[in-house]
Order: sequence, then structure tokens, then C-alpha cells
Amino acid sequence: MKIKKICCIGAGYVGGPTMAVIALKCPDIKVTVVDLNEERIVAWNGPLDTLPVYEPGLAEVVAAARGRNLFFSIEVDRAIEEAEMIFMAVNTPTKTEGEGAGMAADLSYVEACAKNIAKVAKTNKIVIEKSTLPVRTAEKIKEILDREGKEAHFEILSNPEFLAEGTAIQDLFKSDRVLIGGDETESGQKAVQTLIDIYLNWIPKEQILTTNVWSSELSKLASNAMLAQRISSINSLSALCEKTGADIDELSKAIGMDHRIGPKFLKASVGFGGSCFQKDILNLVYLCRYYGLDEVAEYWHQVIKINDYQKVRFAQKIIDHFGGDLTGKIIAILGWAFKANTNDSRESPAIYIAEKLFKAGAILEIFDPMVSKESIFKDIDFYWEASGTEDLKLRISVLDSVNELDLSIDAVAILTEWEAFKSLDFSKTIVFDGRGILSSSIYSIGKG
Ligand code: UDX
Ligand code: ADP
Repeated sequence: MKIKKICCIGAGYVGGPTMAVIALKCPDIKVTVVDLNEERIVAWNGPLDTLPVYEPGLAEVVAAARGRNLFFSIEVDRAIEEAEMIFMAVNTPTKTEGEGAGMAADLSYVEACAKNIAKVAKTNKIVIEKSTLPVRTAEKIKEILDREGKEAHFEILSNPEFLAEGTAIQDLFKSDRVLIGGDETESGQKAVQTLIDIYLNWIPKEQILTTNVWSSELSKLASNAMLAQRISSINSLSALCEKTGADIDELSKAIGMDHRIGPKFLKASVGFGGSCFQKDILNLVYLCRYYGLDEVAEYWHQVIKINDYQKVRFAQKIIDHFGGDLTGKIIAILGWAFKANTNDSRESPAIYIAEKLFKAGAILEIFDPMVSKESIFKDIDFYWEASGTEDLKLRISVLDSVNELDLSIDAVAILTEWEAFKSLDFSKTIVFDGRGILSSSIYSIGKG
């Protein structure tokens, strides 16, 4: 079957860039990205320099395809009805209440999405899970679609997205692999082939891997868990380096030169952030516990515990440097995004570290080249409003430009590895470098 119209539900960090690239590479397919969030859709249709997602290269892709065969809309039902293929790229945060709270994925957005498809669809659809989901979610989606759907037949595929933020467009252009999980039935395999045909427009066939649905769902969780595990491994060793005088960057280089280990993802940091790692590992831990695999669950849980430990350690290092009290000390936080080249601050270590410094009495000056002032204050309110603290805006300012920063303040904490910070003159202040920008140690302290 040749696909003429695709609909993607969810215009976020996954749906937006992924669909923009599909539209670019498949000019004969009409791709409509829909979202309930009207503000987001307006921004996707607006100027290229204020798209809701910042990714190097994204604006160019959107410029080439938008209005030609790429559309952003709030007319969810209409886009579902006319498409033969529907991607679900909605958010799957960690549950905050009910069974599995704090661990399991909240599937309410996915379920609402499936119900909507079932309600609207009059013709057969291939429904594709793009969001990272717990194993066997496809089964749930199918149940909803078959129970609530009318005459239409639904084929569910799992096609997890492996893009990393900041390099999303490159990752989508040259994916290490495209993973497609489908039912082993004849109609399931036909659906798999239909999706393969789309990717073949730009991905070599050797890189397209097909599996059953459950393997595909679990591969995504497992990949993220193993990537995060490498970071926690190197971060745990950074603590030992600081005690012994070994240098974590030298260690990382030495370890990474073993071709069986490899050099990537071995950079010590203030801890990993982002919307995926923590959520996916918690999900994996929950899954293992559900199946009675407590030792396995504990093994993976430790990856998160070390990540939390690293964030605490970094903040405590700054507090200890000033004798345990930061009252009246002005500390600049450079970087709010969870990594460079993105405007995303979800689960960013900066949020946690800022909170800890603030609670120790510090006056904070925050700057990030891409995360907006509104987002930063939203992140802060989210954490602190509930605890009813003082008017935090009196002790926190968010700068519009790095030039506003007076580098003779008490200390600077570098929390995101932005290129723009590399050229700053830090000779007048104490620097706590969480991202290895200045020197070989993650906790290098500059000259006071
Ligand atoms: C991750 C996966 O890489 C991607 O395949 C998946 O689809 C989504 O989750 P992302 O979270 O966007 O992508 O970014 P990634 O580059 O993996 O970085 C995650 C975090 O790890 C960041 O906070 C980053 O700074 C940190 N990190 C990364 C380190 O601390 N050290 C490293 O060596 C690498
Ligand atoms: P991700 O990083 O996985 O892309 P985001 O939170 O950036 O996650 O994006 C998910 C998007 O999905 C949000 O913009 C949200 O408004 C949208 N969304 C969630 N549920 C629905 C739904 N039922 N119909 C349409 N859009 C939805």
C-alpha cells in the first residue's frame, strides 16, 4: 500500500522534527502534525526563529517543507480521518498518582489519543507508537481501538524514536538504525513493509531492523537505560577521582580507547537530564518489579541513584566551598538546558542545583542562550511554589544576555556545555565547572 497522507498526533520534541524530516524526504506524502496545544501549533506555523523546538538545522527543514506537504494544525479529528498512517508522538511522563506513581509511565495521553482515533476513524489505519512506551502498550492501544473503533481495521506498529536532542536532524537524516516492530500476522507484516517503504526514501535498507512489537518497545527502554548507565558509571568514578587525585577525563580517555568500550558517552557531568533517561529507567524498574525481578530492578535503579548523588555532590561542593552558608553570595548559573543545542530543560540538573543553592541562601543570576525566561521561571515555580517559600524572584534573576553578567561575582556554576561560554573570561571569579568546559576536571575551581 502506498501512503498518501500521514497524521502525527503530538507536535513536541519528537513529533515536530521527525515529521518535518519525513515530509522533506517524502515530498509526495502530505504530513499533518496536530496538537491540542494551540499555542504550540501557532508557533510551528510562525517565524522560523521562534519555532517551539530549537534544533540545529530544523528551521531549514521546516522552511523547505512547510506549506508544501508539511502542515501543522489543531484540527486533530480531520487529520486522523484523512490519513492512512497515524503516528502517536504524545508525552508519556512518569505517573504522579495512582498505582506505580513515581515509577510507571502515565499512559493517559496515549490512551486519550487512541480513543480519539477510534472515535474518528472510518477507514483502515496503521497506527504507530513513536513515544517511548512500556512493553505491551501496543496491546492496550489495540484493545482500545478494537473496542471503541467502528468499522475500521487497525494495525499497530512500534517505531521508537532514537533521536537525541541537539542533534535531532542529523540523527533523523542518518539514523544508526530504524526499528520497526509489528505483528507476525500477514496484515501486520504488510503494515511493517508500508512503513519500511517510507524510510527507504533516505535510510539504507541494512539500517532498518524489524522485530516483534515487544522487542521493539523494550529495545528503546533498554537502549536508554544502557546509555544512562554509562554516564552513571563514569560519574561514580568521578567521585573516586576527586578523592584519589586521578583525573576523570584522563580515566575516561583511557577506558574509552578500548574498542570494546568505545569513547562515546563517557563524559563526566553534573548528571544526565532530559525527558527520557530517568523516565525510561523508572519505567524499566517498575516493569522488572512487576515481573518479580527485584534484583534486576535494583540494578537499574542504582543508575538513577548515582545520578541524584552526582547532582547533590556538585551543589554541596559549592556550598562547602563557602563554609556551608551561601547567604548574600551571588552565584551565576550558566546554562539551564539539560544539554547544549536545545531549548529543553526537562529534568535538567540545573533545576535541582539552583534549588539547592537558593535554599542555602544564594542570590542567583541565571543565563541560558536558548531557554526562555518564562520557561526558567516555570521550572523554578514548579519546584518551589508548592513549598511556599519566600518571593524567589527577589533572589533570582534571569539575564537576557551573557553580557549582563558581571564576572567578578562570588562564583559561577557552568551547568550546560554551550559553545558561547567557552570564550568568557573567567579569570576574576571562582568557577565550578560541571561540564568540562574549562579544564580536565569536572569540578575545576578557577582563580578567585
Ligand atoms: C536520549 C538518547 O540519547 C536518545 O537516543 C533517545 O531517543 C532520547 O534520550 P537525549 O536525552 O536527547 O537523548 O540526549 P543525550 O545526548 O542522550 O543526553 C542525555 C543526558 O546525558 C544529557 O543531560 C547529557 O548532558 C548527559 N550526558 C551525555 C553526559 O552527562 N555525559 C555523556 O557522556 C553524554
Ligand atoms: P516529546 O518530547 O515526547 O515529543 P512533548 O511534551 O514535547 O513530548 O510533546 C507531546 C505533545 O503531545 C504535546 O505538545 C501535547 O500537547 C501533545 N498531546 C498530548 N496528548 C494529545 C492528544 N490527545 N491529542 C493531540 N495532542 C496531544
